[in-house]
Amino acid sequence: MYVCICNAITDTEIQEAINQGACSMKCLRSELGVGSQCGKCETYATKMIAASTIAAPASFVPIPLNHKPSQS
Ligand code: FES
Repeated sequence: MYVCICNAITDTEIQEAINQGACSMKCLRSELGVGSQCGKCETYATKMIAASTIAAPASFVPIPLNHKPSQS
């Protein structure tokens, strides 16, 4: 789906940029041009960044090298 109509940028393109490290509107604007004209897409793009930021920490929980799983 198109998120940024002015620049014909889709949610897939935005998600790919976020997955590759874009973590702010400033990054998305410089990488893709999101929000560089009317700015109406910024609310949705910001929500996509927030959703990815909230989801990320759980997948990056470090496991100690000497960790032994408990056996039940
Ligand atoms: S819809 Fe993105 S700048 Fe206008």
